[in-house]
Amino acid sequence: MPVRVSLRARHRNMRMKKMAAPKSSSAEAPSAEALSSRLEELPVGSDRIEELSDTENEYEDIGTITQAEQAHIDYLESVTIPIRDEPETESSKAQREAFEDIRPFLEGNPNDFPLNIFGLPKLQREKHAAFLKSALGDYPSKFAPMDAARPWLLYWSLQGLTALGCDISEYREQVTHTFSMAAYPTGGYGGGYGQYPHLAATYAAVLSLTIVGGTDAYESINRRAMWHFLGQMKQPDGGFTMAPGGEEDIRGAYCGLVVLSLLNLPLSLPPDAPARKHGLTTFLDKLGAWVSSCQTFEGGLSAAPGNEAHGAYAFCGLACLSIMGPPKATLPKHIDLPRLIHWMSYRQCAPEGGYNGRTNKLVDGCYSHWIGGCWALAEAATGRALWNRPALGRYILAAAQFEDGGLVDKPGKRPDGYHSCYNIAGLSHVQHNYVYDEAESGAGSVLLDAPWRWKTQGRYQGDVLWGEDDVVGQVHPIFVTPWGAAEECRKYFEAKEGF
Ligand code: FPP
Ligand code: ZN
Repeated sequence: MPVRVSLRARHRNMRMKKMAAPKSSSAEAPSAEALSSRLEELPVGSDRIEELSDTENEYEDIGTITQAEQAHIDYLESVTIPIRDEPETESSKAQREAFEDIRPFLEGNPNDFPLNIFGLPKLQREKHAAFLKSALGDYPSKFAPMDAARPWLLYWSLQGLTALGCDISEYREQVTHTFSMAAYPTGGYGGGYGQYPHLAATYAAVLSLTIVGGTDAYESINRRAMWHFLGQMKQPDGGFTMAPGGEEDIRGAYCGLVVLSLLNLPLSLPPDAPARKHGLTTFLDKLGAWVSSCQTFEGGLSAAPGNEAHGAYAFCGLACLSIMGPPKATLPKHIDLPRLIHWMSYRQCAPEGGYNGRTNKLVDGCYSHWIGGCWALAEAATGRALWNRPALGRYILAAAQFEDGGLVDKPGKRPDGYHSCYNIAGLSHVQHNYVYDEAESGAGSVLLDAPWRWKTQGRYQGDVLWGEDDVVGQVHPIFVTPWGAAEECRKYFEAKEGF
C-alpha cells in the first residue's frame, strides 16, 4: 500500500520541498518498495504515517537540513500537545490537515526568504509595501462586487503602509476626494458615490482620513450630519445598528464610539434620535450592559447576545469599553475577566503560535490583531497578559508572509489587504508595549477621553525572534491607526467651536 511519511519525520535527515501533484498513473507513482524502505527511517508510532491515495503530492529531496531548521523542528516538537482526542471529527481533521500545510513554513523556509539572526524569514517590508500600494490602484472589473468595501480597501492599505514605515502623504488628496464622494448627504459614509451609509464603511472612512490627516481631510467630514447619522444607529436597548434598519451588533458599538471619540462629537443623542422616545438621552446609555450581554458561556464576546464568541467581536467589545472609560474601571464592571482571559488564552494555537478566532477553528493571521490586540486592553484592566508573543511573531514572519508580497491567513492562501493589515498590526502588538496611564493628560476634553490616556512603553523585553529590520510601527491599541494620528485628529476637532 502506498504510504507517505510525515514531513516532520523525514525532516530529521533531509529537507523536503512539496512538488506539484502528479497527474497520476500507477506507473508515475512511487513504488511501494521505495516507500516502504523509507519507513525504516521512522521512529515508532503510527501517527507519523498516513495512508494516501496514489494521486497525493510527493516531496522532493532538496538537501540536508540546516542548524536553524533543526532548531525550529525541535521547538515545534517541544510545543506540540502530545495528546490527541479520539475519535477524529471534521474539525480535528481540518486542524491536522491545516497544520501539515503550515508545518514546512514553521520548520524551514519554502519561500527562500532571507533569514534574520534567529533563522526566521525577515519581514519582507518592500514586497508588502508594493502589494499594499498596488491595492490602492485600479481594480479589474471582476472586483466590482467589492465596490461597497472600498473604504476598507483604502484603510487596510493605508494602515499597513504606515506601520511598515512608508510615507503615505502622496495619497492624502486622493483619499480626501474619494471620501467626499462617498459621504452620504444625511451623514455617514457609504462604499462610494450614491451608496447608502453604513457604520463599517463610516469607520473605515474616518480612520483613513485620520491616517492621511491634515486640515482638508478633517474638514471634509460633515460632523453635524455624522452626529445625526449615529443618532439613528443608537437602539433602545443600548446597542447600535450597522445601518438604518440594519443588524445590531457589537461592531456597531465599537465603530460608533470610535467615530464619536475621534471627531469629538457630543455624547448627547441628537433630538431626532429614535432612542430618545425610549428614554435614552446619551450614546452611552445602556451600552455597557449591552456589551456585557455579548459575553458568552465560553468567556469571549459575540456579535450580539446569544451568538458564538469570536475574536473579531471580542476586540470590538473590549475596545468599545476602553473608549467608554479607563479599562481598569469599564472592563471589570461589564465583563467577567477571568473567563475572558481564559478564552483569549485558548485562542493561541499550539504548535502554530498564531491565533484562531473561535473554539475548534483554524489558526489565521488576521487574529494576530483581533485577539493579539485584545491583550493590551485586557492587560490595562488586569495587569496581566497570558500570551506568548514570540510564538505569534514566529507565525507571522514564518507562515503569514506571501512569497510575492502581502500577508495571508495561512500558507496556501492568497494575500489580501485585510490579512496584510491585521498581520502587520499583530506584529506591532507583539513588538511594542502600551500602558493606560491615568496621569496622562489625554487630548484635553473630558468627552470619551480614555483613548487619549495611553502611552507607549518601549519594546517587548522578553525573548524576541525578530531583528531591528523586522520591527514595524506602533499603532494605537484602540483605533488601529499609526501612533499619534488619532490624537492629532481629536485635537483638531477639540480646537473647533461647535460643529
Ligand atoms: C468568521 O469568519 C468571521 C466572523 C464571524 C467575524 C468577522 C468580523 C470582523 C472581521 C470584524 C469587523 C470589525 C469591524 C470593526 C467592523 P470565518 O467563519 O470565515 O472564520 P473562522 O473560521 O476563523 O471563524
Ligand atoms: Zn482571516
